[in-house]
Amino acid sequence: MQELELQQEYINKARVLLATYAELVGHQPTACVTTFGCQMNARDSEKLLGILLDVGFVETEDEKADFVIYNTCTVRDNANQRVYGRLGQLGSMKKKNPNKIIALCGCMMQEQVVIDKITESYRFVNLIFGTHNIYKFAELLFNTLTNVLNNKKKIIVDIWKDTDQIVENLPVKRKYPFKSGINIMFGCNNFCSYCIVPYVRGRERSRKSDEIVAEIKSLVADGVVEIMLLGQNVNSYGKGLDEDITFAKLLQKVEAIEGLERIRFMTSHPKDLSDELIEVMKNSKKICRHLHLPAQSGSSRILEKMNRRYTREDYLKLVEKLRTAMPDLSLTTDLIIGFPGETPEDAAETASLVEEVGFDNAFTFIYSKRTGTPAASMPDQVSEEQVTACFNKVLAVVQETARKQVARFEGQDTEVLVEEINTQDEEYVTGRMSNNTLVHFKGDSSLIGKIVKVHLDESKGFYYLGTLIC
Ligand code: SAH
Ligand code: SF4
Ligand code: F3S
Repeated sequence: MQELELQQEYINKARVLLATYAELVGHQPTACVTTFGCQMNARDSEKLLGILLDVGFVETEDEKADFVIYNTCTVRDNANQRVYGRLGQLGSMKKKNPNKIIALCGCMMQEQVVIDKITESYRFVNLIFGTHNIYKFAELLFNTLTNVLNNKKKIIVDIWKDTDQIVENLPVKRKYPFKSGINIMFGCNNFCSYCIVPYVRGRERSRKSDEIVAEIKSLVADGVVEIMLLGQNVNSYGKGLDEDITFAKLLQKVEAIEGLERIRFMTSHPKDLSDELIEVMKNSKKICRHLHLPAQSGSSRILEKMNRRYTREDYLKLVEKLRTAMPDLSLTTDLIIGFPGETPEDAAETASLVEEVGFDNAFTFIYSKRTGTPAASMPDQVSEEQVTACFNKVLAVVQETARKQVARFEGQDTEVLVEEINTQDEEYVTGRMSNNTLVHFKGDSSLIGKIVKVHLDESKGFYYLGTLIC
């Protein structure tokens, strides 16, 4: 039997068990999916929720739910600590509601130390699985329900080292009706020396372009106007496939989809960003004027130790090419402060890179030692004191640069995709410009999901206040 059919059969079987579970808890069971980490995890969570709803659970954001699943991240240690903290709270809830089902999945679960700790100290967890067998969630859910209904206390642990399986077309519950992420590839082969992602997400594998296009077409038919193509390094899309395809060519195929209005993608590794891609972006009517291009450091010495395979000069040259082709492009980036061996002078080079490029935003992270990565055993781990001082200096430059950059469209008219009612003021809505900057303006819920023209009255740092034109 094909994997997809097998999982669909498990969805049907789980539905039958859920009726008994509903009798046990005394109402239609509720489910809460909590996501930690990146866009890739957010998309995986939509797949988990899709299956849970198909089985018959009712969606809630309240972790008092009958079924709670944490989709975890392990990119930095503080992500792990947050999970342990909140898991303790779930444990207390389970004391009051012993039929509560607790599941854990995602990147953190690919680490043996984590599994050891949970199976030892958090015995109330029902199910643990990893990133490679997420497509088997329906089957794992069925097995978990079976255990719970038979009063079996054993934790189901199912972790795989890697996979080459890509299972398409299982149910998905999108967070937004009008926009969606879509995986174009999984895993990463880059092995940046600080990064745990290649170890927990496995080797890079791309989906066939026809399957990606078919999925986007069905999303568009379902009301989606904006898509975000997702991968750890989208610029190396297509390697290993039997077709003659590059990321730039994939974008052209996606551009041709009727009804689709906006295309975004992330993440772009600077070393693989081709001239072909710049040309396609420049000539496109749908690709948004925003590029997230993680620099990580402004010091060539540190970049080499990070195994990023470009220098500060290469990065700046690339930015120049991009700006020449698309003067209205907004650039954002990721930066790490405190990589082993980093001196205050190196960090100052990172700050000067921020100014020189003029980033609209930079996510600035403190280096976190990840066991098993080459950087974890490098000498000269930087003192906390130095890291804090450098971090604060870089952050100040980031904020000042972003404030100036974001403001450069003040007084212009622009297209905005309206996303939601403003959380602070119900008379306002919030949307995004093509370059991803937020705009707040007066409007009502009938605008949600629509692309409208807005005058940018005033820049407020990282967002605009505007007026609806039409
Ligand atoms: N694939 C993407 C990023 C994935 S992780 C890319 O290559 O850009 C997101 C960000 O987390 C990275 O860009 C990096 O800035 C940060 N990061 C990864 N590992 C880290 C670590 N050990 N400590 C601190 N930040 C880290
Ligand atoms: Fe990590 Fe580097 Fe891969 Fe990004 S490209 S996921 S930073 S190893
Ligand atoms: Fe975190 Fe995994 Fe994404 S480690 S950043 S959730 S790929």
